[in-house]
Amino acid sequence: MGYVDLHNHMLPGLDDGPSEISQSLELASGLARLGFELVCCTSHQRYGLFTPDLDLVRSGVRSLKKTFEVQGIDLDLLPGAENCYDELFWRRAHVNEIPCYGETKTFLVEFASPPVPPDFGVKLFEWRKQGYTIVLAHIERYGIDMKMLDRFRDLGQMAALSVNLDTIGGTWGRTYAKWAKRILSEGVVQVLTTDSHSASTLAATERGMTWVDKSMGRSALESFLVRNPREVLAGRLPDPVGG
Ligand SMILES: [Fe+2]
Repeated sequence: MGYVDLHNHMLPGLDDGPSEISQSLELASGLARLGFELVCCTSHQRYGLFTPDLDLVRSGVRSLKKTFEVQGIDLDLLPGAENCYDELFWRRAHVNEIPCYGETKTFLVEFASPPVPPDFGVKLFEWRKQGYTIVLAHIERYGIDMKMLDRFRDLGQMAALSVNLDTIGGTWGRTYAKWAKRILSEGVVQVLTTDSHSASTLAATERGMTWVDKSMGRSALESFLVRNPREVLAGRLPDPVGG
């Protein structure tokens, strides 16, 4: 089975991802070449910045899939959202309308700025009780601090924690690359994502995949990118990998 990307900004014209469909196709071809089989189109939902209509996200996925058929790009897509933990998110949460992946009860959430809010674990507990499965985006960005590792161990009991492959590959600089590798080595992460906005980060994404393969092993890479993302989409919370 191929890789699954739970975090991607491939849809054109909806957020800070591609502005032209040609750029989406370049990104899609590159991800298919790296071994991805399913990409979740998680356009930003960030109040006051990017709030694309959810019907537009769904129709964008349908339209891009048709273009893939014509162009011979072998990649499946699922609509989704990168929900920012902001007032729009809370308005939606209060009426049980958090944008999820496709028809699932799994959703992706990010913080606009660190740190992780003190009561986030309580919120996770409540959402789990309501039947949601949560993916926390790019945890490597929420503070380079060894104390965070214990926090991640706790949060990872209630959410799937993700790290971006291109951070490991150096897109955010050496310090973040080193921190991302440290987090992975501690065994607190369940899934790896690309968070691709364009083809420009594909080389760093590939470097990240190579590092995981060489340092943690092929079975770890496959847990991060094949088994665990599918588990999460099915509403099950997998164990962290490595450590
Ligand atoms: Fe993102």
